[in-house]
Amino acid sequence: GTGRFVVGGNWKCNGNTASIQKLVQDLNAGEITADVEVICAPPMIYLPRVQSTLDRKYQLSAQNCWVGEGGAFTGEVAAEMLADNNIPWVILGHSERRALLGESDEFIGQKVAYAISKGLSVMACIGETLEERERGDTLNVCRRQLQAIVNCISPADWAKVVIAYEPVWAIGTGKVATPVEAQETHAGIRKYMAEAVSPAVASAVRIQYGGSVNAGNCEELARCEDIDGFLVGGASLDGAAFVTICNSAR
Ligand code: G3H
Repeated sequence: GTGRFVVGGNWKCNGNTASIQKLVQDLNAGEITADVEVICAPPMIYLPRVQSTLDRKYQLSAQNCWVGEGGAFTGEVAAEMLADNNIPWVILGHSERRALLGESDEFIGQKVAYAISKGLSVMACIGETLEERERGDTLNVCRRQLQAIVNCISPADWAKVVIAYEPVWAIGTGKVATPVEAQETHAGIRKYMAEAVSPAVASAVRIQYGGSVNAGNCEELARCEDIDGFLVGGASLDGAAFVTICNSAR
């Protein structure tokens, strides 16, 4: 992608008031020396607290939002509510939500479109399971998941989307994709975007890698041509490790 390197920290459903206060302090103390856009995604209920304490060198993201306008949808938070609270980003289509909450490709495509219509930027997650990789279906799965988004948004909307490629077998497992594996899939995703949307969008769109990224493996991954950032889970809960990952930006 042609934009800045972009690193997201997905805190998932972790932390409490004390641990999040410590994480914010560690992040604030960290020095971001690279040319990188950094986005932290705390659990929804901690977002306002983090917003009022986290240094502005970091942007904020929610980890999910509702598929359409707010209303009688118990437990949900609508995209316009995030925008109203000056939360500029949302993570959509995370594999945990696909697998555990049954979010379909189509539902995620609609979510991406609605979030963009409310002015949000989106980290849209895709990626294959181990079984799908072993069957040789890695790119088929990524294409299918992306097609559902392509069907719902305009070519211009892709300026508001970062694609997060997260192989499910690498998430939270300590089993990171090798730079060769990651680069190969990222290049395949970009090629697909050229065909499905346009060569201009394909070359501009940023593609993050996610799945067991840590302070030790980030640098070699960051060197890959088609890796434009990371979406970090576990290691984003450690302020120092996360800052190291952000500074691996090329
Ligand atoms: O959204 C983040 C990913 O699911 C990666 O999680 O870094 O703990 O493997 P992980």
